[in-house]
Amino acid sequence: MKAGIKVFAPATVANVAVGFDILGFALEKPGDEIIARFADTPGLRITKVTGAKGKLPLDIEKNTAGFAALKLLEHLGEQQRGVELEIHKKMPFGSGLGSSAASAAGGVMAVNELLGRPLEKRQLLPFAVLGEQVADGAYHADNVAPSLIGGMILIRSNETLDVHRLPVPAGIHATVIYPHVEILTKDARNVLSNTVTLKQCIQQTGNIAGLLAGLYQSDLELIARSLNDVIIEPQRARLIPHFQEVKEAALKAGVLGCSISGAGPSIFALSANSLIAEEAGLAMKRVFDEAKISNDLFVSPINQEGAVKL
Ligand code: HSE
Repeated sequence: MKAGIKVFAPATVANVAVGFDILGFALEKPGDEIIARFADTPGLRITKVTGAKGKLPLDIEKNTAGFAALKLLEHLGEQQRGVELEIHKKMPFGSGLGSSAASAAGGVMAVNELLGRPLEKRQLLPFAVLGEQVADGAYHADNVAPSLIGGMILIRSNETLDVHRLPVPAGIHATVIYPHVEILTKDARNVLSNTVTLKQCIQQTGNIAGLLAGLYQSDLELIARSLNDVIIEPQRARLIPHFQEVKEAALKAGVLGCSISGAGPSIFALSANSLIAEEAGLAMKRVFDEAKISNDLFVSPINQEGAVKL
């Protein structure tokens, strides 16, 4: 067997309360590991998947990592190259942590590294987005972009992939709790109304503008006032058992804000420092523990690196 390249692509929190489909940030962990190696037989193949409980298709066209990698190889005119991928899922599906996006980001990153890095990381984004689209049918980069390039990312336009890194005040930590109930992104998108009122639009644009101003000015109080989703969270909260109690526990522990991570069921909070983030995590966890809902807790700074070669 030929030697391979191994990459790590991190989990992400999409939406960040007020930026539905246009904001996301990366966590330090969990994440997926993807190995790419050359093979003598032409074409791209997925040879191994672990950690997916048989749920991931090996068919390239139906696999987020495989499809993203294929589109990259086609773009580079290298589709006849013999390339094998191994996908090691180290994070849950349907969790709201950008599992499919991490695989897509990892897939393009691994193949690009294997080929000697013909493209810059940012140039890999369109192919990773096409991969993620295989999973939920929608074309949005709010998980893929931070998983690939790291940081807190604003996607001004998903159509043109006009993607910008936002500053994050020193010390800010994320808390994410994943209750073990499955919500498929497709289903969580289907519950959403296609219309918003003018009042909601004004409130939400005020909040997203406030969040951006707060991030640029390191104004934690402004960030806290702005992390208030008046459009998506009220429609999705009922899909997540004990959401309001968990949010109240987090706010009581002193977080800046708390909302649904991506399409859920994970719930995230942002805090001024790691101490508050840890304490909030324990308080959030207690709610699910008492309700006998098994869960995983992650506390992490914002990962500024994104996908990396290991
Ligand atoms: N922005 C997306 C959503 C993220 O909330 O549906 C999940 O892929």
